[in-house]
Amino acid sequence: MQDLSELEAELVAAVDAADGPEALDAVRVAALGKKGRLTELMKGLGALDPDARRETGARLNTLRDRVAEALAARKAVLDAAALDIRLEAERVDITLSPTADPLSQGRIHPVAQVIDEVTAIFGAMGFTVAEGPDIEDDFHNFTALNFPPGHPAREMHDTFFLRPHEDGTRNLLRTHTSPVQIRTMLAGPPPHRLIIPGRTYRCDSDQTHTPMFHQVEGLVIDRNIHMGHLKGCLESFAAAFFEVEKVEMRFRPSFFPFTEPSAEVDIRCNRKGGEIRFGEGDDWLEILGSGMVHPNVLRNCGLDPEEWQGFAFGMGLDRIAMLKYGPPDLRAFFDGDLRWLRHYGFGALDWPNLATGLSR
Ligand code: DAH
Repeated sequence: MQDLSELEAELVAAVDAADGPEALDAVRVAALGKKGRLTELMKGLGALDPDARRETGARLNTLRDRVAEALAARKAVLDAAALDIRLEAERVDITLSPTADPLSQGRIHPVAQVIDEVTAIFGAMGFTVAEGPDIEDDFHNFTALNFPPGHPAREMHDTFFLRPHEDGTRNLLRTHTSPVQIRTMLAGPPPHRLIIPGRTYRCDSDQTHTPMFHQVEGLVIDRNIHMGHLKGCLESFAAAFFEVEKVEMRFRPSFFPFTEPSAEVDIRCNRKGGEIRFGEGDDWLEILGSGMVHPNVLRNCGLDPEEWQGFAFGMGLDRIAMLKYGPPDLRAFFDGDLRWLRHYGFGALDWPNLATGLSR
């Protein structure tokens, strides 16, 4: 039998020479595996006489333990070296300035920003947000809103109609967010206090019109609601939205089939010097339509106008986004040009709220 201390020296040297996990495993198998050299020696013990077997067995056990120890020690060294290499490769230099990651590059579209701002303002006044479908029927978009059949206002809206059904009726792309007033009032009992932001469609395209645009509708239905509530609500909104102390408003008599009386609302502004400033100046700028909900509309929704009254308003979101943030051509809002979005867009984590400021 080979001298065991020589064998030990040989095996330990092989262990120490292993330069990676695979080489180390090969050494282990060659020594301790099923056909390993130590294993073979152990197998040979049976042929010895009892005294020699006891003595050689004890020495082989010791040898096996030493080799196992050497393997474990070498494995720890190799593992630590591998970890060092990995840590070096994955090192992050925290002194570098931030790189352009998706979060810092992504931008919130001005319309989305304005919807968030409007929601924050009306949310603080106790309004909730409702939505309705883009594809509407004649009843919700016109009839229930007190547009008589053949009334010119139906044509005024430059409606996109869908292909007619068998019975001749046609769905349409909603021309305003007002149909969601009807859906809300039919869905549950008053009081209601909500805003309805969403897409609207009219066949129109120039610098200030696009076939798809955005509106926000407001609806308040309760007992004893009057024009004073409407004025106060809109004045608070306009000051908060344009981020000035106070906005002076002008209510001009107007006509909408679904409100009586109706008013278009202008705000005082200063257009001198090529930019618009609110809360000062001698110019007026129209920002929305509004009025007291028409008794016929209430009746169409099963409400008794003697018991319930309310006000409503509708405002172009793209328009107020243009006024507040300055992009001059509405069509560019929907071009999907990343350079435009980088210029006019907002940081993904700058969530508008009244505590830290809307457009900070
Ligand atoms: N729906 C109107 C439009 O698109 C805007 C409007 C005016 C909505 C007066 C209202 C309102 O709720 O009271 O032109």
